[in-house]
Amino acid sequence: MKFDKANIYYFSGTGNTLIASRVVKDVFKKNGVKVKLIKMEKEDPKNVDLSGAIGLAFPIAVFTSYPLVMDFINKLPNTQGTPVFMLATMGGLALGMKSYLKEALIKKGYVPIGAKQIIMPDNFTPAPEKDKKNPKIVDKGILSTQEFAEQLLSGKANWGYFPILHKFIYGL
Ligand SMILES: Cc1cc2nc3c(=O)[nH]c(=O)nc-3n(C[C@H](O)[C@H](O)[C@H](O)COP(=O)(O)O)c2cc1C
Repeated sequence: MKFDKANIYYFSGTGNTLIASRVVKDVFKKNGVKVKLIKMEKEDPKNVDLSGAIGLAFPIAVFTSYPLVMDFINKLPNTQGTPVFMLATMGGLALGMKSYLKEALIKKGYVPIGAKQIIMPDNFTPAPEKDKKNPKIVDKGILSTQEFAEQLLSGKANWGYFPILHKFIYGL
């Protein structure tokens, strides 16, 4: 699905999701897409701009995301055919979050164009031995985010959907 404008609504506690969001922004800009990064905590979800594509970028927290993020998503307005993508960062395991979100957004009238869960340094606990590996993890995360952004533009991104798992986890 082609788009020439995108607003990426993001939340980032310790910066990983902001790094990934900026990568998408750069790729979009280089390809002529007008793009803005907007903090979820500063925007009323009811006022999101539905005239272009929407990106939802957030960290995975306990296999879902923080209440602020979930609240933002749940309060998004209904629409008709607005393209939407998900960009999550995580330490390694998100379980059914992609499927949960896909279902919730389709119900509101959005068209899911792609979702990616990027592995970034996990921020559960600070640990010096982990810090040594962090630059490598971030570099890999950036590369995979670039690839995802390009796939979004070429229409080759996918979302993926695993029925059932999220129904157990989130009680949908
Ligand atoms: C309270 C808490 C819960 C987390 N839960 C998960 C989780 O369920 N799965 C996972 O892979 N990473 C989890 N993480 C790691 C973060 O998702 C990861 O470090 C993310 O990139 C942080 O993004 P940010 O820097 O934008 O806040 C958790 C981190 C915290 C602090």
